[in-house]
Amino acid sequence: MGPPGAGKGTQAEGLARDAGAAHLATGDMLRQALREETTLGLEARRYLDSGTLVPDRVVLGLVAERLAGAGEGAGFVLDGFPRTVAQAEGLDAILDRLHAPLEAVLVLDVADEVVVERLSSRRTCARCGAVYAAAGRPTHLEDDRCERCGGTLGVRSDDQPDTVRRRLEVFRAETEPVIARYERQGLVRRVTAEGSVEDVRQRLIDAIGANVRPGAGGGR
Ligand code: AP5
Repeated sequence: MGPPGAGKGTQAEGLARDAGAAHLATGDMLRQALREETTLGLEARRYLDSGTLVPDRVVLGLVAERLAGAGEGAGFVLDGFPRTVAQAEGLDAILDRLHAPLEAVLVLDVADEVVVERLSSRRTCARCGAVYAAAGRPTHLEDDRCERCGGTLGVRSDDQPDTVRRRLEVFRAETEPVIARYERQGLVRRVTAEGSVEDVRQRLIDAIGANVRPGAGGGR
């Protein structure tokens, strides 16, 4: 968990890969549905574009479907979910049914100005959703291609400064109470998300070391 641009996607993908766990990112799922122009994707568009939250029932439906297959075996890393108290309560019910309790809630802390800087330079593949920091990439990004699939790289519609500010407000109003809820349950591990991707990753591994068994089939 953490504000927009904290590095949730970057870190969750790496942690899940190393643990052999599933990486379930609700933002990625919603953008994929949008690219495929499914009914759900078209319903989600106005929320994504305005930086507000997609209704809880839509997101919970998506997650329940994906978790049904991911609860057994190597476990899962949830990224960008839950974002409201209602989603957290819905997740509790899903995990109870799967007998798969949460082991840790990782919170990435980062200053607002770092978020704005990161998101103004982020480039995302329009075809597969791969994410790139602009640093180290060519400056003429219109000609830039995704290293994974050859798709065109562009700026996410919700990475305009006004929309980023809106997303930060939504995080404070809707998601910080969820973190407080997990803090009361003793699950939260806070990590400073500034510094290099590798430094943040090491802090996360240190924070969850006792909970997760990387490379040994994940957390359960
Ligand atoms: P989502 O896609 O989840 O967006 P977000 O939470 O705003 O997070 P971001 O994807 O912007 O950032 P991130 O923390 O993953 O950072 P990243 O690793 O990319 O959600 C988008 C929208 O979908 C929401 O606004 C909402 O409408 C909807 N939605 C999603 N989930 C929902 C839910 N549960 N309920 C309702 N609605 C939902 O990194 C950012 C950039 O920084 C990248 O360029 C990266 O390369 C770079 N970077 C990462 N780490 C570092 C570092 N250490 N140093 C320098 N650069 C770094």
